[in-house]
Amino acid sequence: MARKPNVHIIATGGTIAGRADSASATVGYKAGELTLEQLMASVPGLDKLANLTGEQLCNIDSKDMQEDVWLKLARCVEKAAARDDVDGIVITHGTDTMEETAYFLQLVLKTEKPVVLTGAMRPATAISADGPMNIWQSAQVAADASAKGRGVLVVMNGQIDAAEKVTKINVNALQAFQSPGFGPVGRIVDENIFWQNCGVAHTERRNKCSGSGTTGNAGNMFSNSKLIFPLDNLTQLPKVRLIYGYVGGDDDIFVKAALQDGAKGLVYAACGNGSVPEKLMGVLREAVTSGVPVVIATRCGGGVVVLSEEMTEKNGFIASGPLNPQKAKILLQLALTKTKDVKEIQGIFKIGK
Ligand code: SIN
Repeated sequence: MARKPNVHIIATGGTIAGRADSASATVGYKAGELTLEQLMASVPGLDKLANLTGEQLCNIDSKDMQEDVWLKLARCVEKAAARDDVDGIVITHGTDTMEETAYFLQLVLKTEKPVVLTGAMRPATAISADGPMNIWQSAQVAADASAKGRGVLVVMNGQIDAAEKVTKINVNALQAFQSPGFGPVGRIVDENIFWQNCGVAHTERRNKCSGSGTTGNAGNMFSNSKLIFPLDNLTQLPKVRLIYGYVGGDDDIFVKAALQDGAKGLVYAACGNGSVPEKLMGVLREAVTSGVPVVIATRCGGGVVVLSEEMTEKNGFIASGPLNPQKAKILLQLALTKTKDVKEIQGIFKIGK
């Protein structure tokens, strides 16, 4: 008989642990109310799927997630992953910032064991709450040896997405997460897990991709996955601010305020492929000259930001590549813990290497 796998669950809050006054309410509830034990008890037969252990790291609405909690969470995951009696880890999390936590973990964790984030769009008290099935399917993926070495994953509504690419694209629908331009890395149907689209990460990702035939190029697009910034003695992330591009948003007050506030780096979410308004160019160039790296991302929600040589060589801007602005911010923060050199940071962001 096959050995029953061991799954460790770390609960952090979110709608999946949310409670509303009425069973038909899908908004206006309080996130982060149910405990880990209550969540586990809401999934019939979970203990038959895997031997379970768990811990409650916090119980918050993920809009209140903080970087110091990320550091605690990452250490918690590393500790659990180091245990011989843990095969995989599930993290329950609010959906609003789940993609950011997933990407942060992707960049700092060294483990090859499956690490899966999940949440819910409906509170635990709702009719047809999606949380229990999401927990079940996450545990299924975390317990499965085929999920090893694929990096940090997000499992929601039967779909598996990679941390680098996944983003929340809908505020109501159960199918709230997508990986624009890339697609999910897998799907779950009952006891079956179907991997697709190079769902692999870390150093193994490209090897697995090159063997997959149809998706060879995706290995390059995911090259950031090879980056690992070990936690070591990291206690704080450098302050990086995000500036959003829009019509009429070309005055420099937010950039100046961010710099005055001690920002060590900036990410500009441009309207298109790195198109910075003329009026902002001066202040952003000054930021680079004064030693504050500037990453140009896009608010478009898809595509790969590639900058002209003038933007990178003359102005010293850094292209976000396939990373959305909120993920580019995380990579810049971690890059800044290693170097302030613009060329080196450009290298860290560079795709295709
Ligand atoms: C949260 O992100 O904590 C609230 C929203 C959700 O989980 O869907």
